[in-house]
Amino acid sequence: MTMKIAVISDIHGNYEALEKVIGDMEQFRIDEVYCLGDMISLGHQTNEVLSVLSEMENLTLITGNHDDEVIKALKGMKSQVSGPEHEHHLWVSRHIDPDYIHMLENLPLTIEKRIEGHKMLLTHYHLDGCRYRSIEESPSLELLEEIYGQEAYSVVLYGHDHITRHFKTSGPVVVNPGALGVTETSFAPYAILELKGDGAINTMFRNVPYDRRKFIEGLKNENPPALDFIMKFLLKE
Ligand SMILES: [Fe+2]
Repeated sequence: MTMKIAVISDIHGNYEALEKVIGDMEQFRIDEVYCLGDMISLGHQTNEVLSVLSEMENLTLITGNHDDEVIKALKGMKSQVSGPEHEHHLWVSRHIDPDYIHMLENLPLTIEKRIEGHKMLLTHYHLDGCRYRSIEESPSLELLEEIYGQEAYSVVLYGHDHITRHFKTSGPVVVNPGALGVTETSFAPYAILELKGDGAINTMFRNVPYDRRKFIEGLKNENPPALDFIMKFLLKE
């Protein structure tokens, strides 16, 4: 048997992009969708994104650093970040519909899946204990083999650094689908994994056109804290 998994990550409050990606999935007969965290923050469409995710069937969610920080801001807990970034999380926490808080506050850091004989790890980023490692600008095969070499995973899925990647290590296949909602072009990335019973894994990357202008104009109108940083360094506007 073959299972088809769609992998999405780092939606970051971009409903315009998420909606188009979900539409694109329809042609592939996807069995399950895995979302690797950072559903909200940076983009302004918090409740639109959470509404879509809450209604998706066969969705597996893990938390990301931004989801975590918004929940902490909401509860007045100590933050890992400060300045405009923290102000931004406070702003998102003030806008979130209370109906979606429960969904976010109970998300795991990682999830393991076993499908068609494949053992898979879902994580927002590579971990050192229960903390995210610092982002590696140019991750090497050697580093990934060092991190995952002792584990019997056949697939590791991660996000967080916003860059689409595909590594075939001597252990697992390691895949980052890219940041669905933080794009420098009008295309939203995601990945589809085909897991076959004979052990084969096929990975396909998709780039789906969406109305990035509409998203950016909406974000500017909302004018959240850290808007300049988001525009300049993340959206490269
Ligand atoms: Fe992240």
